[in-house]
Amino acid sequence: MRISHHYVTVLVMGALALVLPAQGQEDSSRDTLIVETILRIEGFDLSSSTKAQGAVRRYLKNEWGGERYLDLIERFDLKEEAPGLLRLALKKSESPTGAEAATLLVGLGKGALLGETLEGEDEVAAGQAAKAIAHSGDATLMKALPKVLANPERPLRVRSSALSALYGKDPERQAQLLTMVKSNELAEDLRQTASEILMLSRNAEIREEAKSIFSVAKGDYPSIVELLKRKGDPSRGKELFVTKTCMICHEAGGTGINFGPGLSQIGDKLDARALYEAILLPSEKISMGFEGWEVTLKNNTKLVGIIEETEENLTLTMIGGAKQTIEKGEISSKAKMKQSLMYPGLHQLMTPDELADLVAYLSSLRKDG
Ligand code: HEC
Repeated sequence: MRISHHYVTVLVMGALALVLPAQGQEDSSRDTLIVETILRIEGFDLSSSTKAQGAVRRYLKNEWGGERYLDLIERFDLKEEAPGLLRLALKKSESPTGAEAATLLVGLGKGALLGETLEGEDEVAAGQAAKAIAHSGDATLMKALPKVLANPERPLRVRSSALSALYGKDPERQAQLLTMVKSNELAEDLRQTASEILMLSRNAEIREEAKSIFSVAKGDYPSIVELLKRKGDPSRGKELFVTKTCMICHEAGGTGINFGPGLSQIGDKLDARALYEAILLPSEKISMGFEGWEVTLKNNTKLVGIIEETEENLTLTMIGGAKQTIEKGEISSKAKMKQSLMYPGLHQLMTPDELADLVAYLSSLRKDG
């Protein structure tokens, strides 16, 4: 027997009415339950139930950015939620959720909202829009980014985000960026951002060359024994954590992306010597569960990241935090890497005194403040 969608709706809403307490009808756990239920019914027609519509409307409002927020918008093609989706894509532009929100926004045909934000007055939002545009990968929107870069009137923050958005991922483009840096075509104030992008390139040759260009520590670096004699300044170290690429892979004190181990209590785990070793010689001791894997697909694509496996799938988390789930049937081989996913040589972006500041900051990160 074919059950009509309308019949299913009546059935489901009826059943929910029985299960749920009559009182506090509009309470949020009830809305969540309705949302969870209708998402599970294939072909559920939202327009057929005002009760379900009410629950969805309240869920979007009360649980903005919540677990089912994106699923709901995608499933029922809720174009009217585009402004909320835009806010999420901007606010979470550093995380996979934001990337999903940006992609969905473009999928709903509302990508122009990102373009407008990029051109807008609010420089924080414009910088976030640049990142969101890169996440969405939308070719038309991407064309606006070089224009931002070429316009010296735009604030540094916006241009710098546009630079990361354009060159952050693709090693081929990074080779072009390297050429621009070498021939001094890049605006002076963008060199800091360029150094971060190039030092984190997936391409080892680009990293090596960037290291020689941006290295601030000329000559031999002091030994760990020497470094341990310096007393660093934790508050300066806190800034270096952000500007010297650490926050691209670690979270500490509420800043950064959890790709590598969280460092919010690292001072309890590692003493100063061990911290220096972790930064200077990252491949000597690799933290359990954070080993890098190189996964080759049958179509010859090579992916690098941290893996989690289930019976059927393998989920790869890549640098930057993006996750990709692959069916095991698509994989031709996988191998654990001997090197850490944390690049060696990051200390060369800092003077020895700055490195001591950074280690002083990390040492100060403890459970009890
Ligand atoms: C490209 C990503 C990446 C960057 C950038 C990066 N790290 Fe790491 N880091 C990792 C990964 C992955 C691990 C875990 C594997 C390992 O132990 O080598 C790690 C491990 C560590 C550890 C050891 C943590 C533990 O629990 O044992 C410390 C300390 C650390 N990183 C500090 C830093 C600092 C400071 C910076 C900035 C100068 C930095 N990292 C930049 C990826 C990164």
